[in-house]
Amino acid sequence: MVIMRKNTRKQVAPLRRISPQMTQARAYRKRRLARYAFMRSFGYDPVAALKFVLTKVRWRRTPVLDIGTGKGDFAVALARRFDAVTTLDINIGDRRFARLAAIYAGVADRIRFVVGDGAKLPWRRPRFGLVASMNAFHHMEYPDRVFAEMCRVLLPGGILVLADFDKSGFQIMDDMCRTEGETHPHPPSRFAVWKASLTRQGYRVELFRDCHLQVLIAISPEKIARS
Ligand SMILES: C[S@@+](CC[C@H](N)C(=O)[O-])C[C@H]1O[C@@H](n2cnc3c(N)ncnc32)[C@H](O)[C@@H]1O
Repeated sequence: MVIMRKNTRKQVAPLRRISPQMTQARAYRKRRLARYAFMRSFGYDPVAALKFVLTKVRWRRTPVLDIGTGKGDFAVALARRFDAVTTLDINIGDRRFARLAAIYAGVADRIRFVVGDGAKLPWRRPRFGLVASMNAFHHMEYPDRVFAEMCRVLLPGGILVLADFDKSGFQIMDDMCRTEGETHPHPPSRFAVWKASLTRQGYRVELFRDCHLQVLIAISPEKIARS
């Protein structure tokens, strides 16, 4: 008779080396979560806001362009759903944070970072199936131009997603920034004007409001008459 000896030695999982980049990404994530908690204490929940915007993006269109990368919250959320995201910002300052957020989320290889002006996009022809921007427009010097450029690079049948604070959102940002001795840009909303203009051009447009944001979703006509 063969007696099988029970292996009583504990199976120890091999130690996985954490890359220095991931260590930085984790540290940054901790700081970002603290910032989210600070925002929530004023009444704005950035995670709920992101979820709200994404629930309005019910179609799969790629490639994706995001305008106003900032710290990358929206670009990373888009990259979790779409595998080809280009994100453009006029400033390079926050890009390292956006990259750390992408590394933490495991989507760094899906995002291409571009430095450029949204009012003068570097693509000559329409080439994006989804063109989006979140909480960036109130920072734009020429929002009308950026909006026109977003439409110009959108493919026929593509989706435009524009989200920014509504009146109550700006009030929260004002209160929050005041406690930090800062001010926050507060331009008048152009959403109604853009909605009317897109509707005239044959886009299917819807406006939504929740989580202190307004969101414009527009589907471009399959055949766009471009001047
Ligand atoms: C508050 S951040 C955007 C937040 C970001 N979308 C997110 O979800 O984390 C605003 C960004 O808009 C960028 N910005 C301002 N004017 C711009 C322009 N003309 N073209 C591209 N980016 C611009 C700023 O540099 C800044 O990084």
